[in-house]
Amino acid sequence: MPHLRPRRARRTPAIRELLTQTRLHPRDLVLPVFVKEGLQEPAEIRSMPGVYQHTIASVRDLTEQARDAGLGGIMVFAVPQSRDALGSGATDPDGFFAAAIRAVAQAAEGALVVMSDICLDEFTDHGHCGVLRPDGTIDNDATIDRYAQMAVIHADAGADVVGLSGMMDGQTAEVRAALDDAGLIDTLILSYTAKYASAFYGPFRDAVESTLEGDRRTYQMDPANRREALRALDIEEASGADIVMVKPAGSYLDVLADLAAASSVPVAAYQVSGEYAMIEAASANGWIDRERVIVESLIAIRRAGADVILTYYALEAAAWLAGSR
Ligand code: PBG
Repeated sequence: MPHLRPRRARRTPAIRELLTQTRLHPRDLVLPVFVKEGLQEPAEIRSMPGVYQHTIASVRDLTEQARDAGLGGIMVFAVPQSRDALGSGATDPDGFFAAAIRAVAQAAEGALVVMSDICLDEFTDHGHCGVLRPDGTIDNDATIDRYAQMAVIHADAGADVVGLSGMMDGQTAEVRAALDDAGLIDTLILSYTAKYASAFYGPFRDAVESTLEGDRRTYQMDPANRREALRALDIEEASGADIVMVKPAGSYLDVLADLAAASSVPVAAYQVSGEYAMIEAASANGWIDRERVIVESLIAIRRAGADVILTYYALEAAAWLAGSR
């Protein structure tokens, strides 16, 4: 007869609930949203069924839903109508991105943390996250000057948090200095500290309608590397990051656990477009139990150490979580 019986701690739902180590709350979740310039009606994204490109009016409604669902935050991405080599649209203070942030911030009414994406890839015609030199390589230092301008515009428009997703050296320090110089001392920086050169961002290209020449391997991290994330953490903490992030999430839980153990600031993780698309595709085929897989994928990210999770499932998951309380 067995002497040690761990199963007794799993016997009833009440015992399991009491003893569960990881819980998820709507306030932990951030909903990424896409707002497209010149759009008349919300348009579903082909490779992300259930996720839409929004108009300013429809993103306002969505923000209200997110607020009423008790989410923690909302992350705004803009899809511009025109693109050029410098991504000029990104730094237009009267541009579409600023207008979208203003609309979201207004609808959030202070109850949701408003975040915005600081990167050039949606705005450049070549699809890279930075400006290029004549030889086609990324001009790191010219790029971070543009991020700094962008961040000031976003913060002025009402972003509480600017998300630095470009993976350029020195971006956090430069953006912090620019915000401070502009008197925007209360704007937080979410640093995409460990952002990997991942194929899981595939459907995001459909969402923002950008095409990429080449790849991002000279700036985003090698998926084979783990130690490098800790060096990035040291640099980002020293540069003034208020929140650090790991991206993608599901295939990088070891990196997330490393950062969660070592970080002195809150840690976020981004369940990206490809992770969403895979769950949707398998569910549409009836191959997996959609709701259970979604919750399990989010719990796993939390268990690995994320304080905050960016997920396209935020609204839906919040409704299920509220029902289970
Ligand atoms: C950069 C950015 C990307 C994502 C978030 N911010 C694209 C990229 O770096 O290639 C990807 C998010 C997702 O795939 O859901 N603007």
